[in-house]
Amino acid sequence: MALWSGRFEEGVSEFTQRFGASLPVDRQLYAQDIAGSKAHAAMLARQGVISHEDALDIEAGLTEIERSIEEGEFTFDVNDEDIHMAVEGVLTANIGDAGARLHTGRSRNDQVATDTRLFAKKRCRDLMRANTTLRHALIKQAQEHFDVILPGYTHMQHAQPVLFSHHLLAYTWMLARDFERLQAAYAAADANPLGSAALAGTTYPLDRFQTTRALGFDHPIPNSLDAVSDRDFLLDLIYACSVSSMHLSRLCEEIILWSTSEFGFVTLSDAYSTGSSIMPQKKNPDFAELIRGKSGRVIGDLVALLVTCKSLPLAYNKDLQEDKEGAIDAAQTLEDCYVCAAGMISTMTVHPDAMMAQARRGYLAATDVADYLAKRGMPFRQAHEVVGHLVLLCEKRGCDLEDLALDDFKAESDLFEADITSALNLEAIVAARTTYGGTGHAAVRQQMQEASGRLDQDEGRIPRL
Ligand code: ARG
Repeated sequence: MALWSGRFEEGVSEFTQRFGASLPVDRQLYAQDIAGSKAHAAMLARQGVISHEDALDIEAGLTEIERSIEEGEFTFDVNDEDIHMAVEGVLTANIGDAGARLHTGRSRNDQVATDTRLFAKKRCRDLMRANTTLRHALIKQAQEHFDVILPGYTHMQHAQPVLFSHHLLAYTWMLARDFERLQAAYAAADANPLGSAALAGTTYPLDRFQTTRALGFDHPIPNSLDAVSDRDFLLDLIYACSVSSMHLSRLCEEIILWSTSEFGFVTLSDAYSTGSSIMPQKKNPDFAELIRGKSGRVIGDLVALLVTCKSLPLAYNKDLQEDKEGAIDAAQTLEDCYVCAAGMISTMTVHPDAMMAQARRGYLAATDVADYLAKRGMPFRQAHEVVGHLVLLCEKRGCDLEDLALDDFKAESDLFEADITSALNLEAIVAARTTYGGTGHAAVRQQMQEASGRLDQDEGRIPRL
């Protein structure tokens, strides 16, 4: 019989028991549940609500349960609705009345909110760690291929030459923002609902500030109704995971493109590729595709919880039991994607020649040729037009801007001189982009320092719990 069965004459059916249970999911929160119960019991004793002997028995009994769960000896009873019932049931069976006093002044409503917040904080911290590992991998590749030039694209068309290091660093900034979002999710979870009881607080002289300190929360939640019904912190966590998975999907999309025979910019290591069961020649970027695909499921987790919470009246409603599965899944999925992406990035082979060969195609110097004229006094709009004619000429001849003779240039404008050839040099074009945040070597060197500095700072900001 369930721990709440006193006023019932009939039990639930086997089916509804299973349908209503959350144990298969929330058993992952056993450590948080035990920590929350220990803090509650110690506080009850200090406040004189239960005896110190009972509190000691509870503490020892919970430690033993934690050990038995960790060593796989604990048998979860299918009749237990959730982890709270499972732990309390076994505790009471083991230590008797003291176990039955643990739930004084507490409800599963504040209990589950407490456990889930502790769990969310832990997962934010794990994700921050994995986030920084991936940033290390990106920065290392950027350092190793600092000078490599590839075409920069807009509309997937060749636009202007950029440094490969600049391109990779763009992702480290996205991930740095994701780190901030994880910090925000951590801060949102860092408030204590314990002591709010079912919804209204309790008549026992509970000290909520004491459990707040014991559990490492920043502050107690000031409204008991809000405390038991707020799941914003999980939305914040899944949102942070969603945005970051979206970023990883962009990175992986590029890696997939770069590893096609059309691009040939990178070769993924065998450890991050798979073959085909029918086509012996195939080497597929499966893991990059999988990371790209996983973003769908993480974003789905976000939408699911948002819709679950929509229109819920105060305070606790059983709908809220649906909160954990998606949040646990989103965090696990993103953590796995971080680990996989970090391995894939650090082991991929970069092909600078293939990148450079593409950078030589598609008139990447065109903007700089127009700037050449503008810097010699021609209004930029007119210069744009002149270079447009030169590009058309190249298209007709099937050649590149570099293949044109000085006379071809002069035929369009007599502002062109022999030094126009230096305006066509890709290294010079890149190097000339000296603006802060631009792709010029000096600017990227500075950016690299900032990205590494930010990474160091962030590593120091990962909470210790
Ligand atoms: N298993 C429940 C959950 O995850 C715990 C809280 C249940 N409270 C209740 N009054 N039924 O939300």
